[in-house]
Amino acid sequence: MRRPIIAGNWKMNMLISTAAEWVEEILGKSPLSDSVDIIVAPPFTALAVVRERIEGSRILLAGQNMGPEAEGARTGEVSAAMLKDAGCNYVILGHSERRQFFAETDELINRKIKIACDQGLNIIFCLGESLDDRDNDRTHDVVESQLAGGLADFDTGQLDRLAIAYEPVWAIGTGLNASPEQAQDVHRFIRAWLEKIFGSERSAGIRILYGGSVKPETSAPLMAEQDIDGLLVGGASLKSDYFYDIINFSQ
Ligand code: PGA
Repeated sequence: MRRPIIAGNWKMNMLISTAAEWVEEILGKSPLSDSVDIIVAPPFTALAVVRERIEGSRILLAGQNMGPEAEGARTGEVSAAMLKDAGCNYVILGHSERRQFFAETDELINRKIKIACDQGLNIIFCLGESLDDRDNDRTHDVVESQLAGGLADFDTGQLDRLAIAYEPVWAIGTGLNASPEQAQDVHRFIRAWLEKIFGSERSAGIRILYGGSVKPETSAPLMAEQDIDGLLVGGASLKSDYFYDIINFSQ
């Protein structure tokens, strides 16, 4: 049994003050489910305040991105070691917004994934097809090439650090979510690929999350699918009430 992950990706939203309020609100509700891993990815500027406020709770911290080098002259970048130092257990890598707006390639994402693992971070590795890919029946091909590129030469000894988030680009921030059946189809495809490359035993524990316009009312049907092991939630994670409901509906 894979333990579900419910992760909130705040993207470029929330100030230090609103981030602190969010944590207070969510921890002020009845105890958070202990049958799922709960992760929140604030912007870098709010990591410290969120870390301080979640101390002793079940919420884990993630970075939204990091640089592909360990350290050095890279103005504006944040390293894996800095994320760890700031209290992160996880980092989100390969998000479609990084691919689209910051020209991140599979090769760059692969370097980031390896360095993050080497520095002891867990990864949420995002991938997914565009609407054009889906309309032209290229979903599996695109997902396969993102998997092969992002996980090239991945050290199998690090597989327990890896989670994958299937996020169809056409469903992110659009209100159009993939149906549970559409998501399950791609999740099953991803699982079969992982089994082929890493072996079924070694890859059995890898959690595959769905992301793209997840809301409280869509979370339970998605989580009911066999190969959906969690949710990566953008917009709806900004509201503590919604995120709390998604956690509860996803057990
Ligand atoms: P969304 O974002 O829930 O706002 O669609 C999901 C994501 O980009 O991770």
